[in-house]
Amino acid sequence: MPFPRPCVPEILGASQLVVELGARRGLLRHRAGVRAVDGVEISIAEGETFGIVGESGCGKTTLARTLLGLQRESAGEVRLEGRVVSGLDPRAARRARDAIQYVHQDPGAALDPWWRVGATLAEGLAIHGVGDRAEQQARIAGMLRAVGLDAALADRYPHELSGGQQRRIGLARILLLRPKVVILDEPTAGLDLSVQAAVLRLLRDLRAQFGLTYVFISHDLSVVRRVCDRVAVMYLGRVVEEGSAATLFAEPRHPYTRALIAAAPHLDGRESGPSLPGDPPSLRAVPPGCRFHPRCAHAAPSCATSEPVREVAAADHAVACLRWRVLA
Ligand SMILES: Nc1ncnc2c1ncn2[C@@H]1O[C@H](COP(=O)(O)OP(=O)(O)OP(=O)(O)O)[C@@H](O)[C@H]1O
Ligand SMILES: [Mg+2]
Repeated sequence: MPFPRPCVPEILGASQLVVELGARRGLLRHRAGVRAVDGVEISIAEGETFGIVGESGCGKTTLARTLLGLQRESAGEVRLEGRVVSGLDPRAARRARDAIQYVHQDPGAALDPWWRVGATLAEGLAIHGVGDRAEQQARIAGMLRAVGLDAALADRYPHELSGGQQRRIGLARILLLRPKVVILDEPTAGLDLSVQAAVLRLLRDLRAQFGLTYVFISHDLSVVRRVCDRVAVMYLGRVVEEGSAATLFAEPRHPYTRALIAAAPHLDGRESGPSLPGDPPSLRAVPPGCRFHPRCAHAAPSCATSEPVREVAAADHAVACLRWRVLA
């Protein structure tokens, strides 16, 4: 049940989204898949920065790839600018969603090591029908300046760039395609704090300059708190809590969100807090009832048998926990 926000229209949304990965049907051996995304509801408003957080393997990148149309949904609906864009064959799905672009988790992986940066940028433009070489060069030079790079960098190879420069090139590459929604997968991972701050400032400026909506996937809760308007917390393929960043960090309701916040370094100047309890979860053995119950310090017997549903905890704040009222 996404939140109704009458003043700001939804630009990207999903309902009951399910994505199964890795299922194999052989003659002799049949391997069941895993549900990396399992009934996700999200509604992202135009112009906002929407954060997605959760431990490694909880399905963040799979959700991103599905929103993009690179991964086919097994069930459910994806909406873009008021149109249903799910249920299409792969090529049509990607074409219907070319207003969404993705900045790869590994910035180097998105760049061809054998191509000069300028050639990689020009290729994207050519695919989108900008064939005139002079116009390509002008647009590329302008975009390199917009992401804070010298136009001369177009002549370099990816290995001749720093991690921060590679990220800026990754941004330039997709912004040339004039997206409305940009999915940023771990945009600050592996950067030292000063480069991280510069990348975040750049993202803020580009959002304003190009009128972008961001989906911001990150492990780093201190960054998410600083830059996101709203945040969804994922656990084993599900969104377990969602709300405005201010509310979610001030009054987290789900024990998982609380544990994540408690474990996060830098939130209050500490190097790191207590690590999350229990074993990291596996999609191959999803617990019955509430998926988090084996690791939850507040679990009651009912948590092992009943599945929580999303409940509204406050305006623009929802939580899927059987015990949130008791724990509030
Ligand atoms: N092709 C695949 N076949 C089977 N399982 C897969 C496949 N791709 C990913 N998975 C599994 O799906 C789950 C979700 O992976 P995903 O990459 O979406 O997680 P993530 O939240 O982005 O993690 P990270 O924070 O490490 O990037 C993981 O358990 C992963 O092992
Ligand atoms: Mg990922």
